[in-house]
Amino acid sequence: MKLIHTITELREYLATARKAGKSIGLAPTMGALHAGHLSLVDALAAKIPENSEIVVSIFVNPLQFNDPKDFERYPNTLQSDLDALAGTAATVVFAPSPEEIYPEGELTVLITSTGPVAFEGLHRPGHFAGMLTVVAKLFNIVQPDYVAFGQKDAQQLFLVRSMVRDLNIPLEIVVVPTMREADGLAMSSRNRFLDPENRADALALSAALQVAAKEDGVDAALAVATGILDKAGVALDYFALVDPDTFQEVSGDYHGKVLAIVAANVGPVRLIDNLLFELTTDD
Ligand code: PAF
Repeated sequence: MKLIHTITELREYLATARKAGKSIGLAPTMGALHAGHLSLVDALAAKIPENSEIVVSIFVNPLQFNDPKDFERYPNTLQSDLDALAGTAATVVFAPSPEEIYPEGELTVLITSTGPVAFEGLHRPGHFAGMLTVVAKLFNIVQPDYVAFGQKDAQQLFLVRSMVRDLNIPLEIVVVPTMREADGLAMSSRNRFLDPENRADALALSAALQVAAKEDGVDAALAVATGILDKAGVALDYFALVDPDTFQEVSGDYHGKVLAIVAANVGPVRLIDNLLFELTTDD
């Protein structure tokens, strides 16, 4: 596995690979890798021809942190990330510096045409502009045939899919299911900051999603889920049911496929989770 820090070196390396007829896969990450990230690499390896190049980018993108304290304490664990990737199908790790990615500061950023985006967009102003900008840059730098994104960041996935469609970016997105701990907690690089009490409370997020999926009707699903979250004492940002194709909130007697999404602060840690299920009506 090759470790590359500069865009020039990466482009030269990948140009040679492309000339040799290899396909290129990309798993974009911010490091602090856990089994969920490794499953992105596995999903790419399963999808693309053997002997392809699988690039894992590790870049803690300052542009997508709305809270500077969150950025400062985001784990920076390059050596253990390299160790974790050593046993996978990754062939290249691209770990650029902030100056390599943003040499001129931030003159151009990508925003959505609909203005402010709900949910994460409202709770983390600027987050999605920063995320889309760095993802577009990584797509242009790597020019992958396939790119893997986790279902865990459902709204990120929705916006990246929209960007790929709207800007005619020639690649295929491989969607990777959320990896969970044995007790249901969605894996996240932020889980390491949960103390034992917060760790127990954090289970309310996945529990709320699970119980909502068993209810008939939007109102019943919302009531039972928010009841669980209230009882756990987590500071809820939102629990909502959205149409997975549009990310618009559903209400009333809506039935069919829904994505339940939740975000809450559990002690000092902000967590998100989601679950896709079929909602039936209550009549
Ligand atoms: O999901 C993440 O880790 C980040 O948002 C991403 C896609 C690597 C962009 O910085």
